[in-house]
Amino acid sequence: MATNKVPENLKQRLKESYDAIAPKYNEWTILHSQYRLYYLDKLLNLLNATEKPQVSTLELGCGCGIPVTQKLLSHETYHVTANDLSSTQLEAARENLHSDAAGDRLRLVPGDMTELSFAAGSLDAVIGMYSLIHLPSSEQVLMIEKIVGWLKPGGYMLANFTEETIGGVVNEKWLDDKGWVYWSGLGAENTVQVIKDAGLNVVVSEVTEDVVDASFLWVLAKKGLQL
Ligand SMILES: C[S@@+](CC[C@H](N)C(=O)[O-])C[C@H]1O[C@@H](n2cnc3c(N)ncnc32)[C@H](O)[C@@H]1O
Repeated sequence: MATNKVPENLKQRLKESYDAIAPKYNEWTILHSQYRLYYLDKLLNLLNATEKPQVSTLELGCGCGIPVTQKLLSHETYHVTANDLSSTQLEAARENLHSDAAGDRLRLVPGDMTELSFAAGSLDAVIGMYSLIHLPSSEQVLMIEKIVGWLKPGGYMLANFTEETIGGVVNEKWLDDKGWVYWSGLGAENTVQVIKDAGLNVVVSEVTEDVVDASFLWVLAKKGLQL
């Protein structure tokens, strides 16, 4: 159902949905990770080329941590703050990742990504896969601006967004009877413009058709400095 109004208690309802559908979502989605890994590899190649002694990353809406958080942690210099609204997802991430010898390189942070705060210029990369799309479009703009503030000069943002302009869509039963979800997006062109206006240089901006019959805009962008 299309809606221009942001549903009341959006974050609480999304939390409850993902708490309920997380196992089903994860079982389904992990099998279809090719684009996550394809774009993550592009980011890792750029980050690894800098040969930093420590790489500080933030993942927004990390889900159960597979495959993205796990792959970040497979690099010994990487520290990951992994955030999610759903406590069921974070618990799954804890179980999936605790045996990865990540030690103190992994920090799991519950809650709404828009409420997070980090020191300015403190992160090498911020990643959000299929997660910023759950924010109303106006919050996506604010989130991108926050991300830019948190990134170090030369740091990267990797995220995907809806290709189409979607004022807001509610699906009452996505994947499951309890799967109430909301998506929104500014559309590919406007999203890229917002990212540029926020102070990032776009390295990659591509639209791909996903397994779910929907197209997503993937953006890998760098803060300041030259490309
Ligand atoms: C479609 S799943 C994607 C999970 C994972 N990134 C992946 O690629 O499979 C969306 C995730 O974002 C989380 N999420 C939704 N809104 C959020 C918000 N405002 N803050 C933090 N996490 C959120 C959900 O709980 C869910 O785990």
